[in-house]
Parts: sequence; C-alpha cells; structure tokens
Amino acid sequence: MGSHTGGSEPAGPESREALMPQPAPGRKLTHGAQMPSLGLGTSPLRGQACVDQVRSAIEAGYRLIDTAENYGNEDAVGQAIRESGVDRSEIFLTTKLNRQWHSVSGVRAAYEASLERLGLDSIDLLLIHWPNPDQGRYVEAVQGLEELRQEGLLRAIGTSNFTPAHLRRVYEETGLSPDVNQIQLSPYATRDQSRAYHDEYGIATESWSPLGASGTELRNDPVVLTLAERYDMTPAQVVLRWHYQLGLVAIPRSSHPGRIRENLSIFSFELSADDVAQLSALDRGEAEVVDSDTFGH
Ligand SMILES: NC(=O)c1ccc[n+]([C@@H]2O[C@H](COP(=O)([O-])OP(=O)(O)OC[C@H]3O[C@@H](n4cnc5c(N)ncnc54)[C@H](OP(=O)(O)O)[C@@H]3O)[C@@H](O)[C@H]2O)c1
Repeated sequence: MGSHTGGSEPAGPESREALMPQPAPGRKLTHGAQMPSLGLGTSPLRGQACVDQVRSAIEAGYRLIDTAENYGNEDAVGQAIRESGVDRSEIFLTTKLNRQWHSVSGVRAAYEASLERLGLDSIDLLLIHWPNPDQGRYVEAVQGLEELRQEGLLRAIGTSNFTPAHLRRVYEETGLSPDVNQIQLSPYATRDQSRAYHDEYGIATESWSPLGASGTELRNDPVVLTLAERYDMTPAQVVLRWHYQLGLVAIPRSSHPGRIRENLSIFSFELSADDVAQLSALDRGEAEVVDSDTFGH
C-alpha cells in the first residue's frame, strides 16, 4: 500500500480549519473493502463511558471503530453505533475473537456471538486477536474467517499480533493472506520486518497503541516535542501523522472528547520526509513489543 510521504519543508496548518477534525481518507483492502486510515480504539472503555466516548467519536467524524470480544465492550460499542444516527454502512467496525475459537466452526460461533453482543447485523472486519501458537490452530482460524468472507458475512478478514513467521505459515498452508494485520506499532517500535512482509503480501498494517499507550514517554520524547512545536500541532498529532504518512492505519484511544477530536485532526498538515525519518529513528526494536509467541488470549 502506498505511503503518504511529505516534502522537504515543514508545512503547518494554514488556518484554524486545520484544527478541525476531518474524515480520515480511506484505503482499499485486498478483498475490495474501503477502510478509513484512522479510527478509534476502545480498550479498556466499558459501559456508559464507552457508549459516550464512541458516540462522541462518531459525532467528531470517526468512521472506524475497533473493539474486541476480550474488551468486554462490544455491547457498548454496538449501542453507540445504533444511537449515533449515522448509517451503519458508513461505519467500518472491527472486532476480534479469542483463542478458544481457533477452528473453522469456532470462528463462525465467535462471529455470531459478537453480532449478538453488538446488537448489530454486520461486522466489517473480524480479527484473530492473538496467534496463540501453543495451540497451533491459527491457520484453521484464518480458514474460518475466509469461509465467512466468501459467504458475504465479512467485508475483510484479519489477524492481530501475527509475526511474519505466523503469516508465512498461513500463506504456505492455505494460499491466504489477511486484509489487515493489527500490531503494536509506534515510533518506538516501527516493526520494519512486519511492515515489509505486509507490503509484499498486500496486507494493511494497523497500529495498536499508536501513541505509545498510557505511558507518556513517547508523547514527551524531545524529538516529538520539537516537531510538535515546529508544526504548531500537538505531540499526539505529530505521531498520528507519522503513522498516516507511513501508510499505516492508527487506532488511538482517548477518554477525552477534545483529544478524540484532536487525534482526527491530522489531515491538513504534512511532515517533511526528514521529519518522518527522525521519528522512525526512535525505533527501539522488537524488544519493545509484546511477544506474541508467548502471550495471547
Ligand atoms: N490487537 C491488540 O492486541 C491490541 C492491544 C492493545 C490495544 N489495542 C487497540 O488499540 C487501541 C489503542 O491503543 P492504546 O489504548 O493501548 O494506546 P494509545 O492509543 O497509543 O494511547 C492511549 C493513551 O494515550 C492518551 N492520549 C490519547 N490521545 C491523546 C492526546 N491527543 N494527547 C495526550 N494524550 C492522549 C490516552 O489518555 P487519555 O484517555 O487520558 O486521553 C491514553 O492514556 C486500544 O484502545 C485497542 O482498541 C489492540
């Protein structure tokens, strides 16, 4: 997938309009679905707080919402979507299934259970949340997703926390590659090998913890702070723009409506190629990310 590379000069917002949220541009996935380039993460929100945050994000213009069976908030996310007044077809909804569903029939059962909790009649993208290689059944789970997609029940199929080795095994045994692989990715963990594999196989890379999660180190990194000042944007906006210019789909989460709007307001400025490279140079390698060969649920 193409990246959105900046020119050489810094270009800050030209007017206050630039600070207003705008719809995220879409990107086309392998199986034809159009997915927004930026969405809302919902973990660990639950209950009414989750309904309120998701509704305020949809009002602000978010059209990609990320939930999971494991977050225990599909009911709240579904309620927010139903109450938003925005047509269901305009929202790209992702959910994820847990390890006990790693079989062809299990994936179908997980899909049906998610729909029930969501109170909606469709899911756009279903992800295998973790590969759980100790069970050795993620290939079957991908086959289960593909069966649902072929029946028209999913617009796209996906994995999460799969390494190139996991994806290669799926490809070698089935000839399938997911539309999306959602992985932990930020300027501190740029995941170069994963991104190269994804690019080769036409897999969209989705970044979880795109802002470095609840720790504030990345958002206070001197490089990030310098660029925020230079572009007259916030540290979070600089980091999210970096994801966008690398062609990644980021799903930041915030409990504050103002920040939810701020995080979508990144489409009116452009980082220079040098500044993108400076952020990428903050990479600390794979030691920075959760090891999906040993962790999963
Ligand atoms: N597939 C997986 O295995 C997996 C794993 C983890 C997460 N995820 C998904 O990825 C989503 C995002 O990841 P995440 O929640 O871990 O981390 P994140 O989005 O990188 O960071 C969230 C943190 O950043 C703060 N924040 C957000 N916007 C900000 C802004 N504009 N200025 C300053 N601070 C800001 C939030 O604080 P406030 O709330 O106080 O604003 C929160 O503490 C999750 O919600 C979930 O949907 C997926």
